[in-house]
Amino acid sequence: PTGLTGRHFLKELDFTAEEFRSLIDLAAELKAAKKAGTETRHLTGRNIALIFEKTSTRTRCAFEVAAADQGASTTYLDPSGSQIGHKESVKDTARVLGRMFNAIEYRGDSQAAVEELAAHAGVPVYNGLTDDWHPTQMLADVLTMTEHSSKPLERMAFAYLGDARFNMGNSYLVTGALLGMDVRIVAPKSYWPAEEIVTEARRLAEKSGARITLTEDVAEGVQGADFVATDVWVSMGEPKEVWDERIAALAPYAVTMDVLRATGNPDVKFLHCLPAFHDLGTKVGREIHERHGLDSLEVTDEVFESAHSVVFDEAENRLHTIKAVLVATLG
Ligand code: CP
Ligand code: NVA
Repeated sequence: PTGLTGRHFLKELDFTAEEFRSLIDLAAELKAAKKAGTETRHLTGRNIALIFEKTSTRTRCAFEVAAADQGASTTYLDPSGSQIGHKESVKDTARVLGRMFNAIEYRGDSQAAVEELAAHAGVPVYNGLTDDWHPTQMLADVLTMTEHSSKPLERMAFAYLGDARFNMGNSYLVTGALLGMDVRIVAPKSYWPAEEIVTEARRLAEKSGARITLTEDVAEGVQGADFVATDVWVSMGEPKEVWDERIAALAPYAVTMDVLRATGNPDVKFLHCLPAFHDLGTKVGREIHERHGLDSLEVTDEVFESAHSVVFDEAENRLHTIKAVLVATLG
């Protein structure tokens, strides 16, 4: 019913607002069916390859459980366990896997690699995160927003604080622009999305009626927001050495209770794609704590654990939205 049979899912810009919304609607239906115990299988006998050149908890598990729920099998290729990129080109890998599988998921640095896979596989290819975009995450975030607000998307405002020149910032900007939302990117100017992406977002906004704000001013950026989102300050694949400069530049953009109060909205909700440095009890976190004496990075533990936080609904929604992508493209 979504008309997306056979389509790739490589980046948000490849979709119309109607197509994107149809995936959200399908995800909501699949979620309700699973909860009611009435889910029907649309993917029996399908085989899906999952290529992960970077680590993952949510994305991998969402693909595996979604496929299993729908009767499909998955094969996981871990960051070191295949020939891709080491001994064999992306193009050859695409042609081999395309003969064996009905669809391929790919997570890695390079958007060009996932586009190349799609060009040669002959089966749908899904972007499970590149340095440039995280499109399946956007489906989960938009589903979560619709569940936690009574407003239609075109009347919702959301502010993204932090490193906005990587996958999450880019994806939030264009997704909000596509869907007609009030999108604010709140970061030091050197961390704003690239000029071409801002131009694309403004072009989409002309059609959708979206409002786009890029600002360095936290109070201005979050005023009236329904949702405040952030992401890690150093992403997978970036060298450890950048932590010092990131902490110095982005500390004023950490999501604290004061930031939530500055929205003026007592019902404001907090989003984070996860993993999050809300406490520094993890291995990487402890090193940062020892070096910088900080207790949290992009979000305080107080915000993360508060009633404002909807991060675990967001994480669960990775499952239902990735299932929607599989069913819409392969069903
Ligand atoms: N949000 C997200 O993509 O999480 P993983 O890296 O665990 O897949
Ligand atoms: N920006 C983060 C997102 C993780 C889901 C990264 O690329 O590591």
